[in-house]
Amino acid sequence: MKNGVAVAKVSDIPPGKSIGVTCHEEEIAVFNLDGIFYACTNRCPHAGAPLENSMIAGTVISCPWHGWRFDLAAGPEAPKDGVIRFPVTVSGEDILVGLPD
Ligand code: FES
Repeated sequence: MKNGVAVAKVSDIPPGKSIGVTCHEEEIAVFNLDGIFYACTNRCPHAGAPLENSMIAGTVISCPWHGWRFDLAAGPEAPKDGVIRFPVTVSGEDILVGLPD
């Protein structure tokens, strides 16, 4: 696991918004849910929709194509639903994501 790879600035993602980034060959969706940042794979396991465009309700995102739902707060030990959650920390303005080696 690569700890603390900077993927965006805090100011890049207002509360309730998300972005997609590519970092170390990983496509990642990064969310700001009421000031807490979450990151996961940016590909829905159903048919590949970009999860960065999901609807957000609390910590649950709904895929933009067919509505499959994923709880980002489930954490890296999440249910086996095909979406990998990555650990996120914030250092100053930087959003840091722990990525697989
Ligand atoms: S592509 Fe996400 S629910 Fe179908």
